[in-house]
Amino acid sequence: MSHETIEKNVGLMAILIVVAISWGGLAEIVPLFFISETTEPVEGLKPYPALELEGRDIYIREGCHVCHTQMIRPLRAETERYGHYTVAGEDVYEHPFLWGSKRTGPDLSRIGNRYSDDWHRVHLNDPRDVVPESNMPAYTWLNGAVLDGVDTPKKLEALKFLGVPYTDEDIANATDAVKGKTEMDAIVAYLQGLGKEMKNR
Ligand code: HEC
Repeated sequence: MSHETIEKNVGLMAILIVVAISWGGLAEIVPLFFISETTEPVEGLKPYPALELEGRDIYIREGCHVCHTQMIRPLRAETERYGHYTVAGEDVYEHPFLWGSKRTGPDLSRIGNRYSDDWHRVHLNDPRDVVPESNMPAYTWLNGAVLDGVDTPKKLEALKFLGVPYTDEDIANATDAVKGKTEMDAIVAYLQGLGKEMKNR
Protein backbone atom coordinates (compact mmCIF):
# COMPACT_ATOMS: atom_id res chain seq x y z
CA MET A 1 0.00 0.00 0.00
CA SER A 2 1.57 3.26 -1.04
CA HIS A 3 1.69 6.39 1.04
CA GLU A 4 -0.43 8.12 -1.52
CA THR A 5 -3.30 5.66 -1.12
CA ILE A 6 -3.36 6.22 2.63
CA GLU A 7 -3.09 9.97 2.42
CA LYS A 8 -5.92 10.22 -0.05
CA ASN A 9 -8.29 8.03 1.96
CA VAL A 10 -9.40 9.80 5.12
CA GLY A 11 -11.16 6.78 6.65
CA LEU A 12 -8.17 4.52 6.20
CA MET A 13 -5.85 7.23 7.48
CA ALA A 14 -7.97 7.66 10.63
CA ILE A 15 -7.99 3.91 11.33
CA LEU A 16 -4.25 3.62 10.86
CA ILE A 17 -3.63 6.62 13.14
CA VAL A 18 -5.71 4.99 15.87
CA VAL A 19 -3.79 1.72 15.43
CA ALA A 20 -0.42 3.51 15.60
CA ILE A 21 -1.32 5.51 18.71
CA SER A 22 -2.87 2.53 20.50
CA TRP A 23 0.15 0.39 19.80
CA GLY A 24 2.48 3.11 21.05
CA GLY A 25 0.37 3.58 24.18
CA LEU A 26 0.21 -0.13 24.95
CA ALA A 27 3.95 -0.52 24.49
CA GLU A 28 4.47 2.20 27.10
CA ILE A 29 1.79 1.23 29.60
CA VAL A 30 1.52 -2.56 29.63
CA PRO A 31 5.09 -3.30 30.79
CA LEU A 32 4.51 -1.08 33.87
CA PHE A 33 2.07 -3.63 35.25
CA PHE A 34 4.74 -6.30 35.19
CA ILE A 35 7.81 -4.43 36.45
CA SER A 36 8.06 -4.92 40.20
CA GLU A 37 9.72 -1.52 40.60
CA THR A 38 6.47 0.19 39.70
CA THR A 39 4.05 -2.08 41.53
CA GLU A 40 5.83 -3.00 44.76
CA PRO A 41 6.28 -0.71 47.75
CA VAL A 42 9.73 0.68 48.49
CA GLU A 43 11.45 -0.84 51.51
CA GLY A 44 10.01 0.38 54.78
CA LEU A 45 6.81 1.80 53.28
CA LYS A 46 3.93 1.56 55.75
CA PRO A 47 0.29 2.47 55.33
CA TYR A 48 -0.59 5.82 56.90
CA PRO A 49 -1.45 5.53 60.61
CA ALA A 50 -5.09 6.56 61.24
CA LEU A 51 -4.28 10.12 62.35
CA GLU A 52 -2.06 10.76 59.33
CA LEU A 53 -4.75 9.36 57.06
CA GLU A 54 -7.27 11.83 58.51
CA GLY A 55 -4.66 14.56 57.99
CA ARG A 56 -4.32 13.51 54.39
CA ASP A 57 -8.07 13.84 53.85
CA ILE A 58 -7.97 17.34 55.34
CA TYR A 59 -5.04 18.17 53.06
CA ILE A 60 -7.20 17.14 50.11
CA ARG A 61 -10.29 18.96 51.42
CA GLU A 62 -8.36 22.20 51.89
CA GLY A 63 -6.85 21.97 48.41
CA CYS A 64 -3.23 21.98 49.57
CA HIS A 65 -2.42 19.79 46.57
CA VAL A 66 -3.51 22.58 44.24
CA CYS A 67 -0.49 24.67 45.27
CA HIS A 68 1.89 21.91 46.37
CA THR A 69 3.18 18.96 44.38
CA GLN A 70 4.33 15.68 45.86
CA MET A 71 6.47 14.66 42.94
CA ILE A 72 10.17 15.38 42.66
CA ARG A 73 11.51 15.09 39.15
CA PRO A 74 14.89 13.46 38.53
CA LEU A 75 16.56 16.80 37.76
CA ARG A 76 19.54 18.07 39.67
CA ALA A 77 17.95 21.36 40.69
CA GLU A 78 15.07 19.42 42.24
CA THR A 79 16.97 16.65 43.98
CA GLU A 80 19.38 19.16 45.53
CA ARG A 81 16.50 21.16 46.92
CA TYR A 82 14.05 18.45 47.93
CA GLY A 83 15.92 15.15 48.18
CA HIS A 84 15.63 11.85 46.33
CA TYR A 85 13.39 12.03 43.28
CA THR A 86 10.00 10.39 43.52
CA VAL A 87 9.86 6.68 42.69
CA ALA A 88 6.72 4.72 41.83
CA GLY A 89 7.16 2.32 44.75
CA GLU A 90 6.58 5.02 47.37
CA ASP A 91 3.13 5.75 46.00
CA VAL A 92 1.60 2.28 45.79
CA TYR A 93 -0.63 2.95 48.82
CA GLU A 94 -1.71 6.40 47.61
CA HIS A 95 -5.41 6.50 46.71
CA PRO A 96 -5.74 8.98 45.12
CA PHE A 97 -2.16 10.03 44.42
CA LEU A 98 -1.31 13.68 45.10
CA TRP A 99 1.52 14.26 42.65
CA GLY A 100 0.01 17.50 41.37
CA SER A 101 1.29 19.53 38.49
CA LYS A 102 1.49 23.08 39.76
CA ARG A 103 3.84 24.51 42.33
CA THR A 104 2.72 27.78 43.80
CA GLY A 105 4.50 26.61 46.94
CA PRO A 106 7.36 24.10 47.21
CA ASP A 107 7.09 20.33 46.72
CA LEU A 108 6.14 18.64 50.01
CA SER A 109 6.95 14.98 49.38
CA ARG A 110 10.04 15.12 51.65
CA ILE A 111 8.77 17.68 54.15
CA GLY A 112 8.58 15.17 57.05
CA ASN A 113 10.87 16.12 59.97
CA ARG A 114 12.28 19.13 58.16
CA TYR A 115 10.56 21.48 60.61
CA SER A 116 9.22 21.02 64.13
CA ASP A 117 5.54 20.39 64.83
CA ASP A 118 5.37 23.88 66.32
CA TRP A 119 6.76 25.43 63.16
CA HIS A 120 3.96 23.80 61.15
CA ARG A 121 1.30 24.98 63.61
CA VAL A 122 2.52 28.56 63.51
CA HIS A 123 2.88 28.38 59.72
CA LEU A 124 -0.61 26.98 59.16
CA ASN A 125 -2.14 29.55 61.53
CA ASP A 126 -0.52 32.33 59.59
CA PRO A 127 2.26 31.56 57.12
CA ARG A 128 3.47 35.18 57.30
CA ASP A 129 4.52 34.72 60.92
CA VAL A 130 7.42 32.55 59.76
CA VAL A 131 7.79 33.41 56.07
CA PRO A 132 6.99 37.14 55.71
CA GLU A 133 6.71 37.09 51.91
CA SER A 134 4.43 34.03 51.84
CA ASN A 135 1.17 34.13 49.88
CA MET A 136 -0.10 30.86 51.32
CA PRO A 137 -3.55 31.17 52.97
CA ALA A 138 -3.96 30.81 56.76
CA TYR A 139 -5.86 27.74 58.03
CA THR A 140 -6.90 28.90 61.50
CA TRP A 141 -10.07 26.80 61.70
CA LEU A 142 -8.10 23.57 61.86
CA ASN A 143 -7.34 24.27 65.55
CA GLY A 144 -10.97 24.31 66.60
CA ALA A 145 -12.20 21.32 64.59
CA VAL A 146 -12.12 18.20 66.74
CA LEU A 147 -12.20 14.75 65.13
CA ASP A 148 -14.65 12.14 66.42
CA GLY A 149 -13.13 9.26 64.44
CA VAL A 150 -16.50 7.74 63.57
CA ASP A 151 -15.70 7.32 59.89
CA THR A 152 -12.01 6.51 60.29
CA PRO A 153 -12.35 2.69 60.39
CA LYS A 154 -14.42 2.82 57.20
CA LYS A 155 -11.69 4.80 55.49
CA LEU A 156 -9.11 2.18 56.45
CA GLU A 157 -11.43 -0.57 55.27
CA ALA A 158 -11.92 1.09 51.90
CA LEU A 159 -8.16 1.40 51.46
CA LYS A 160 -7.69 -2.20 52.54
CA PHE A 161 -10.12 -3.21 49.83
CA LEU A 162 -7.85 -1.39 47.37
CA GLY A 163 -4.83 -3.37 48.54
CA VAL A 164 -3.36 -1.28 51.36
CA PRO A 165 -2.23 -3.77 54.02
CA TYR A 166 -4.11 -2.51 57.08
CA THR A 167 -4.59 -5.14 59.76
CA ASP A 168 -7.87 -5.82 61.56
CA GLU A 169 -6.22 -4.37 64.64
CA ASP A 170 -5.40 -1.10 62.79
CA ILE A 171 -9.06 -0.86 61.80
CA ALA A 172 -10.36 -1.69 65.27
CA ASN A 173 -8.11 0.94 66.89
CA ALA A 174 -8.63 3.64 64.27
CA THR A 175 -11.36 5.56 66.08
CA ASP A 176 -9.43 5.74 69.34
CA ALA A 177 -6.31 6.86 67.50
CA VAL A 178 -7.97 10.02 66.21
CA LYS A 179 -10.84 10.74 68.62
CA GLY A 180 -10.41 14.06 70.42
CA LYS A 181 -7.48 15.18 68.23
CA THR A 182 -7.89 18.39 66.24
CA GLU A 183 -7.67 18.69 62.48
CA MET A 184 -4.48 20.68 63.09
CA ASP A 185 -2.95 17.70 64.95
CA ALA A 186 -3.93 15.43 62.07
CA ILE A 187 -2.54 17.56 59.27
CA VAL A 188 0.73 18.19 61.13
CA ALA A 189 1.08 14.44 61.72
CA TYR A 190 0.50 13.85 58.02
CA LEU A 191 3.09 16.45 56.99
CA GLN A 192 5.65 15.06 59.44
CA GLY A 193 5.24 11.58 57.95
CA LEU A 194 5.80 12.61 54.34
CA GLY A 195 8.84 11.07 52.68
CA LYS A 196 10.05 9.23 55.80
CA GLU A 197 10.93 6.03 54.02
CA MET A 198 12.95 7.90 51.38
CA LYS A 199 15.08 9.95 53.79
CA ASN A 200 18.20 7.80 53.68
CA ARG A 201 18.39 7.16 50.00
C1 HEC B 1 -2.42 29.44 47.32
C2 HEC B 1 -1.38 28.44 47.32
C3 HEC B 1 -1.15 27.61 48.55
C4 HEC B 1 -2.03 26.78 49.21
C5 HEC B 1 -3.50 26.55 48.89
C6 HEC B 1 -1.29 26.13 50.25
N1 HEC B 1 0.01 26.54 50.23
FE1 HEC B 1 1.52 25.87 51.43
N2 HEC B 1 2.80 27.17 50.58
C7 HEC B 1 2.49 28.05 49.59
C8 HEC B 1 3.65 28.92 49.32
C9 HEC B 1 3.72 30.05 48.31
C10 HEC B 1 4.67 28.51 50.21
C11 HEC B 1 6.09 29.09 50.37
C12 HEC B 1 6.07 30.21 51.42
C13 HEC B 1 5.82 29.67 52.80
O1 HEC B 1 6.63 28.86 53.31
O2 HEC B 1 4.78 30.02 53.39
C14 HEC B 1 4.10 27.40 50.99
C15 HEC B 1 4.81 26.68 51.94
C16 HEC B 1 4.33 25.57 52.62
C17 HEC B 1 5.11 24.74 53.50
C18 HEC B 1 6.60 24.91 53.81
C19 HEC B 1 7.39 24.21 52.72
C20 HEC B 1 8.87 24.37 52.83
O3 HEC B 1 9.58 23.54 52.21
O4 HEC B 1 9.35 25.29 53.51
C21 HEC B 1 4.26 23.78 54.00
C22 HEC B 1 4.60 22.68 54.97
C23 HEC B 1 2.95 24.03 53.43
N3 HEC B 1 3.03 25.12 52.58
C24 HEC B 1 1.83 23.28 53.70
C25 HEC B 1 0.57 23.57 53.19
C26 HEC B 1 -0.64 22.88 53.60
C27 HEC B 1 -0.70 21.76 54.61
C28 HEC B 1 -1.67 23.44 52.90
C29 HEC B 1 -3.15 23.14 53.01
C30 HEC B 1 -3.73 23.21 54.33
C31 HEC B 1 -1.10 24.46 52.03
N4 HEC B 1 0.25 24.51 52.24
C32 HEC B 1 -1.83 25.22 51.13
C33 HEC B 1 1.30 28.13 48.88
C34 HEC B 1 0.14 27.44 49.23
